[in-house]
Amino acid sequence: MQSTGTRKHLIVEAMRRAHRDRAEYLGDPDFVQVPTDRLIHPFYAAGQRTTIRMDRATPSEMLPSSAAPNAGTDTSHFSVIDAEGNRVAGTQSINLFFGSGLMVPGTGVMLNNEMDDFAAKAGAPNGFRLVGADANAIAPGKRPLSSMTPTFIEKPDGLMIVGSPGGSVIMTVVLLSTLDWMDGVAPEEFIKKARFHHQYMPDAITFEPGALTDEEKQTLQKYGHTLRESRMPGNAQIVTWDYKSGEVKAVSDPRGVGVGVVY
Ligand code: DON
Repeated sequence: MQSTGTRKHLIVEAMRRAHRDRAEYLGDPDFVQVPTDRLIHPFYAAGQRTTIRMDRATPSEMLPSSAAPNAGTDTSHFSVIDAEGNRVAGTQSINLFFGSGLMVPGTGVMLNNEMDDFAAKAGAPNGFRLVGADANAIAPGKRPLSSMTPTFIEKPDGLMIVGSPGGSVIMTVVLLSTLDWMDGVAPEEFIKKARFHHQYMPDAITFEPGALTDEEKQTLQKYGHTLRESRMPGNAQIVTWDYKSGEVKAVSDPRGVGVGVVY
């Protein structure tokens, strides 16, 4: 006989799957074709049932979705190399959500709100919770600080082109990618690894689920760190070139929209 906890787990898993289908398929049938026959078919229910584990919650993001990945609304990074080795690492930003929200009439060009990259007031956090002081205070003709880090890393046997959006997390993405690449980890592996991040203020380590083992968490807490598990921005676009084998790889972060192509 099931425990009441297991029973509730199964009800929740059924709810999760029904809501996924709602999100995926349902809309006004005058406008969209809802696959009702399929959704209410006993075979469909049987198939859904086989995906439920008795002892483990299914993370919702593991259920298939055709929803468009998060296309982002602000910063984009491109890593590019051609057959002659000419290369570009380009990060472009209008800063936060749709920049200033203003478009130059007739052009489709959104104006940025990079003023938030200045320290508007000493010690007051900006949109990425970064603090600054007089060195980054607003002044006429002055450029604000930027976290954008379009990067080439060269080592004797290869090259990596890397960059990302993500505000303050950009440098973390580039640093962690660089450390892994220098250690010989394949880019298709390290690009999807859970990340951890510290930015001075707030004085805490932010980490994606799975970035730290229990042992690492215990060690870090023993050393006095505050830990905060959280989703993090970051959408690395990486090209690597192995000088010995000649192999070029292009990989795109599974956290966001993007594609790595070699042709
Ligand atoms: O230059 C900077 O540091 C910011 N304007 C970057 C903003 C950003 O990456 C937003 N993207 N998610």
